[in-house]
Formats: sequence, structure tokens, C-alpha cells
Amino acid sequence: MSTNLAKMFALVLVFYSGLASANDLAMKRMVEDITNIFMSSMEYIFKNQPLINQKGGNKGELFGQSFISNVKNTYHMKYRQPFPDLDHRAKRMLLQAMVEVLEDNRILLNDAEIGFKGLIPATFAFQLSRKLSIKGIGLTIKFTRHTQSIRNKANIPDEWEVEIMDKIQKEPRIYYDANATLNGKPAYRQFTPLPMKPYCLNCHGAMRNNPLNKGKDPAQWTNIDMTGFTMENWTLKDFGGGVSISIEKSVITE
Ligand code: HEC
Repeated sequence: MSTNLAKMFALVLVFYSGLASANDLAMKRMVEDITNIFMSSMEYIFKNQPLINQKGGNKGELFGQSFISNVKNTYHMKYRQPFPDLDHRAKRMLLQAMVEVLEDNRILLNDAEIGFKGLIPATFAFQLSRKLSIKGIGLTIKFTRHTQSIRNKANIPDEWEVEIMDKIQKEPRIYYDANATLNGKPAYRQFTPLPMKPYCLNCHGAMRNNPLNKGKDPAQWTNIDMTGFTMENWTLKDFGGGVSISIEKSVITE
């Protein structure tokens, strides 16, 4: 009898740990989906700077369902996979928040006189993070880098991010952590490094990389980039920072 009981107990344990790992796997996939959907939106914003900065004209592609379709197309091209099922509130809210950010910028985007609108991947990411935190769905997206060179104080990394960035600089890859915390609460977290591209140096590079200095006498060069920040003198060899995504466990199981 006691051996039967023990067997039953063991079976129950196996069953529960099986459930837990299936759940962990599903969560890992979800964090990955959210990261990739977000990365696709950043890429779309990056590739469509000419449309964004165009003075007036038809900008319908940047709003509502058209924008979502464009993010989906970018996702297909980038990952060569079908767009993830919107089977969780966090994914649906993410898409909705993106559309809302663009809607908030509608007047600026449609302005017929302003050229550079300043809606670049970094500012889009920041506005999206803020919107998600107001919605309080337990999904946090942050574009971050080492504290010494942070432009926006709200992007300052927390302890987990600092630790992961140290690892990434030694071994660049995507880091996933199923047992992390965010503001003291258990969370799934993922950090995806962003490769440095020549385009980044337009703003974060040296004075000679600044398009505002093009064709000017070096004595007249400015180290203020087109967004009004002091340039950091990064080179292509520097660490570009990355995207940090966290989902609070208490929220995800709802
Ligand atoms: C047009 C200018 C411009 C370009 C080009 C640009 N950035 Fe930035 N970047 C900014 C601005 C402005 C911010 C601050 C955004 C905000 O207010 O949150 C920023 C913020 C960041 C941050 C977040 C940390 C912080 O300092 O607030 C990282 C990481 C970053 N940029 C990396 C990159 C990388 C990597 C590239 C190229 C793929 C790039 N940037 C291209 C202007 C630029």
C-alpha cells in the first residue's frame, strides 16, 4: 500500500513538473513572439523614415490597420515565419499600443512644413513603453544601454539588465530568463542586443558622421545631432544596447 501511495505521489509529481515545463515553454515562445513583433515595428519605423519625414502627402500606411499590416509584412520578411497567433491579451495590447502611439503623433506626422519629425525607432520605443506601462498589463519594453551613456533617464538599466549586458558584451546573443524579477516581482525577461549599423552613427557617432556637418568646414562642425542630443562618439565596434522585454508572471497567467 505504502509503495502504491509512493508511486502515485511520484506520478503526480511528474504530471505537475510536466505541466510547469509546458507552461514555461509556452511563455518562452510568447516572450519571443512579443520581442519579434516589437523588433518588426522598429524596423518598419526605421525603413520608413522617408515617409515619416516627408512634408505632407498621404501617410495612411502609418495608421490603424494599415500600420498593423505593415508590421506583419515586415515580420514575414524578417523572420520568414507566419505572424504569431494573437492568442494572448499581451500581444493584442502591444499591437493596439503601437497604433495608439502613431495616432498620438498624427498631427506631427501630417505636418506639411516640418521635415525631420524625430519619430525614430528609439523615440517610438520610448513612447510605446510609456503607453504599455500606463495600461498596466505587466508587459514592459525598454530600449537600454549602459548608464554612462544614456540619453533618456527613463531608459536607465536595472540590475538584471546591467548583468545581462555585461554578458552580452563578452558573448553577443539573445538572453532569456524564466526566473527573473522586475521591480521585485517574478517575471520572464529577455534581452535582445541591437547590432550597431552605420546609420546609428548619424546621431551616436563622431562629428564627422553627423549629417548636419556635411559639406561644412570642420571648424563649423557641431557635436549636437539632429535630435538635439550631444553625440557619444560611438564607432561600429561599440555596443549598440538592446531591447529588454519583461512580462510579469502574475499577469501572464490571467
Ligand atoms: C536620428 C538620430 C538617431 C539615430 C540614427 C539612432 N539613435 Fe539611438 N537614440 C536617439 C535618441 C534621440 C534617443 C533617446 C530616445 C528617447 O527619448 O527615449 C536614442 C536612444 C537610444 C538608446 C536607448 C538608451 C538611451 O540612450 O536613451 C539606444 C540603446 C540607442 N539609441 C541605440 C541606437 C542604435 C543601436 C542605433 C542604430 C541602429 C541608433 N540608436 C540610431 C537618436 C538616434
